[in-house]
Amino acid sequence: MKSTNLGQAIHANSAAELRRHLFYETSHSPALADLVGYENAKDIVDFCFIANPYYPTREMLEDLQQNLPNLIKSYPSSNPEMSQRNLAAVLHVDPEHLIIGNGATELIALIDMTLIERIAVPIPTFGEYIERMKDQRDAELYALDPGQRYELHLDDYLAWVHKRKLECLLVINPGNPTGQFIPLEEMVDFLHGARDLEMVIVDESFIDFAGDPVPSLLPLADQFTNLLIVRSMSKHCGVPGLRLGYCYSANLFVLNRLRRFVPTWNLNTLAQYFLAQLPPTDAAYHEGRKRLIGDVRWLYDALSSIPRLQVYPTGANFVLFKIQNGMTATELQARLLAEHQMYVRDCSNKLGMDAFHIRVASQGREKDTRLVEALRTLVR
Ligand SMILES: Cc1ncc(COP(=O)(O)O)c(C=O)c1O
Repeated sequence: MKSTNLGQAIHANSAAELRRHLFYETSHSPALADLVGYENAKDIVDFCFIANPYYPTREMLEDLQQNLPNLIKSYPSSNPEMSQRNLAAVLHVDPEHLIIGNGATELIALIDMTLIERIAVPIPTFGEYIERMKDQRDAELYALDPGQRYELHLDDYLAWVHKRKLECLLVINPGNPTGQFIPLEEMVDFLHGARDLEMVIVDESFIDFAGDPVPSLLPLADQFTNLLIVRSMSKHCGVPGLRLGYCYSANLFVLNRLRRFVPTWNLNTLAQYFLAQLPPTDAAYHEGRKRLIGDVRWLYDALSSIPRLQVYPTGANFVLFKIQNGMTATELQARLLAEHQMYVRDCSNKLGMDAFHIRVASQGREKDTRLVEALRTLVR
């Protein structure tokens, strides 16, 4: 179906064409294919799910395509060592200190279920850290102030954690959904102040877009034995469908406790093959990463020039904005989908967030330009 027809179809027959009820059945967003079907999904620009548009490169995708029949018919390796070595080569870390998961989400579930009794979580956030706790009430929620743009102030947060006698805490840097970036020096000071805690989880899924060189804690992680870094490869490597994420810690005792529960063959053959392509394509990865940083800066400026939007500063590959003309995020999301074939993240189902926030992941300058034009016509 051509995109104009698709728009008309969704508009004219929304109940049948767009499975809207799916929005109410998940704390995440429904996949486009679930919403409109695999064929129609190709005609919609996905600004909702966050993934680097410049990687894997076209050559890598063609190569993967050629190898697909063989990979699908093969069993993956039951030994994670080779994959860990491939990943460690581009991260410049010790492979023994990595665990690779079927998406970061698999590791988050294992961390929640095996390592943590109670945890402090600033909200709004990525919901899995709360939802995978054995009892969700064991996630102690630290509500960020909408009046202060949901900014996380590390000193206040740590004081709160100490006051409540919590032993574990989470920081997502840059934050999701806000995009707030906390500079490396501040994170290091914070980690020194949090040395008495049992575990500090820092999710750096978006850190590769926060600057150059990448302001990650990875090179310093060996100084902090209570630090566990989590990263989703969906975002920075642009492969959400392959399901790849990892965690890193200097603390082998903690990692080994976790490793016992990682299922054998948790990485499929496509994912393992992709990991083997990382070292020879590392230069292309960083080129794309830097290009995307430029695109996001452009997107931030362009959105900021729309009068009725309040745009949040970002260090990630997405931008959060608040609609200030009374239209709700749900309404704007529906209109962008029906009238412009664009899918954005309505953040109103995020715990601690109001009904007026939309998050958009950069999809490269050309598509981002179209998004900004569409928003200009819809938000007046
Ligand atoms: C902060 C954060 N961590 C982890 C994940 C999990 O990603 P995945 O399971 O696709 O690797 C997400 C996904 O949105 C996220 O936002």
